[in-house]
Amino acid sequence: MSVAKTYDIALVPGDGIGPDVTKAAWAVAEAAAARDGFALTATTYPWSCNYYLETGRMMPEDGIETLRGHDAILLGAVGWPATVPDSVSLHGLLLPIRKAFDQYANIRPHRLLPGVEGPLKSETFDILCIRENTEGEYSGAGGRVHQGTADEVAVETAIFTRTGVERILRFAFEAAKGRRGRVASVTKSNAQKHSMVFWDEITRLVAADYPDVEVTSYHIDAMAARMVMAPETLDVVVASNLFGDILTDLGAAIQGGLGFAASANVNPTRSAPSMFEPVHGSAPDIAGKGLANPLAAIWSAAMMLDHLGEGQASARILRAMEAATARGFGIRPGAQTTDAITDAVLTAINEE
Ligand code: IPM
Ligand code: MN
Repeated sequence: MSVAKTYDIALVPGDGIGPDVTKAAWAVAEAAAARDGFALTATTYPWSCNYYLETGRMMPEDGIETLRGHDAILLGAVGWPATVPDSVSLHGLLLPIRKAFDQYANIRPHRLLPGVEGPLKSETFDILCIRENTEGEYSGAGGRVHQGTADEVAVETAIFTRTGVERILRFAFEAAKGRRGRVASVTKSNAQKHSMVFWDEITRLVAADYPDVEVTSYHIDAMAARMVMAPETLDVVVASNLFGDILTDLGAAIQGGLGFAASANVNPTRSAPSMFEPVHGSAPDIAGKGLANPLAAIWSAAMMLDHLGEGQASARILRAMEAATARGFGIRPGAQTTDAITDAVLTAINEE
């Protein structure tokens, strides 16, 4: 008798709509696993802004070590600015996980699901944004002096290392090989003459190892325009932490909104677990109403299964999501409840 393969997942539902969408994503992941003959087990950690109010920390001191033992992390949302400043909650939970586990590739797909009306004329785009996730403009290096005086100075230093830049570019070229073979490398070397000239140099260096991948460098401002005017010309887009952060909200907008934007924070070396999360955040305005769109979290769970080597189950979830949206579920904000959209995806999984 063979024993079904089991993956041990850490669930961090977090704040606001996080718990609702995590529950939905988990139900869908379990249904797909059952169809494909493997098992998932969950350990839920209540780390959140409420946890902070009770304990003074966003996660326990050994939180990172606790998570390290899992195969992957599925996260809902972090942040509840009415009670805990974002600078505290994010630096106490989400960002330390990305950094401690060296999840250097933040992968965000942008395309329209069937039936979803985007704001653009173009409907055929399929973009994979690869955002550097551990250094660059969000390294956290810097400080403030003469605080509170008229002479106050704040310095935030962007740090680009050869290792960091080369590995994210390599990751993007590898991703392009499995897609349409095109990389757009996002730069600003006309104005940032140190870091972005360095980025361009390493783009050329890595490109030499991928003769079959076509690479073009675009300045960040021109890329923002291109994603609106001609998104169908893009395949893999690779960018630094700040540039990628901004472009992926733009990507979410052109795919119909943050309700559809999924993400994976991946450690490609697998020396530590990767983390999967919807891009949307805790959405205080709709929290507790049961109206959050679970599709971004469900898509993120599909990316998790793919990362774990269960490509078939991952593809199954994507097909089910597409079947649900084609039937009108989850395509307009607030038109159905979180549960109704989740049920539509589950139905599609089970009727295949
Ligand atoms: C994201 C978010 C985070 C980021 C914030 C909340 C720190 O905007 O995942 O895109 O910038 O990484
Ligand atoms: Mn962001």
